[in-house]
Amino acid sequence: MSKIKLLGLSGSLRQASCNTQLLREAGHLFEGSELTIADLKLPLFNEDDETATGIPPAVQTLSEQIAQADAVLISTTEYNKGISGTLKNALDWISRTRPNPMIGKPVAIMSAAAGRAGGERAQVMLRNCLVAFRPRLLQGPEMLLAGPTKEFDEDGHLISDTYRKTLGSLMEALREEIR
Ligand SMILES: Cc1cc2nc3c(=O)[nH]c(=O)nc-3n(C[C@H](O)[C@H](O)[C@H](O)COP(=O)(O)O)c2cc1C
Repeated sequence: MSKIKLLGLSGSLRQASCNTQLLREAGHLFEGSELTIADLKLPLFNEDDETATGIPPAVQTLSEQIAQADAVLISTTEYNKGISGTLKNALDWISRTRPNPMIGKPVAIMSAAAGRAGGERAQVMLRNCLVAFRPRLLQGPEMLLAGPTKEFDEDGHLISDTYRKTLGSLMEALREEIR
């Protein structure tokens, strides 16, 4: 049986990003899946540039990756009570590609952030930003990883049973949505 194709969008470009790690753990918990982490290091959106030279190849690639995925996972960090500029920039670019690659697409969101709420405000903002794409956005369970740097073991797996179960349940819900 062919593997379920998951595409992960991480809100952080940091090499050791906890959000990217959380995406990898989600892919690990989703048995029978194959996770690709998208490259969100894109040019800053500027409508003048778009008019002059069109959609950049990296954005076109990202849009096609989304269209071809069975489901999309988005993990956002929280920067100053909102999603990162990296993630917003990527969403703005994706919204300029046609056809909308995320319409009807099963999407699960999560967050990892240093504060006690684990990026809850950023997740609320992300949910709002996704409305325009009309995805099949899972309502829960909410995966909010607080103080994430101490939550992964040396192999990159979540240490806490509670967090692992929540992420596992979110992936089960996503599997149902894909069906
Ligand atoms: C510019 C900046 C703003 C931040 N603002 C918040 C914030 O509002 N809430 C929060 O919980 N953490 C905040 N943090 C801490 C991040 O949540 C933390 O660095 C997180 O691990 C980054 O995600 P990453 O590990 O995927 O890079 C901020 C960090 C930076 C660099």
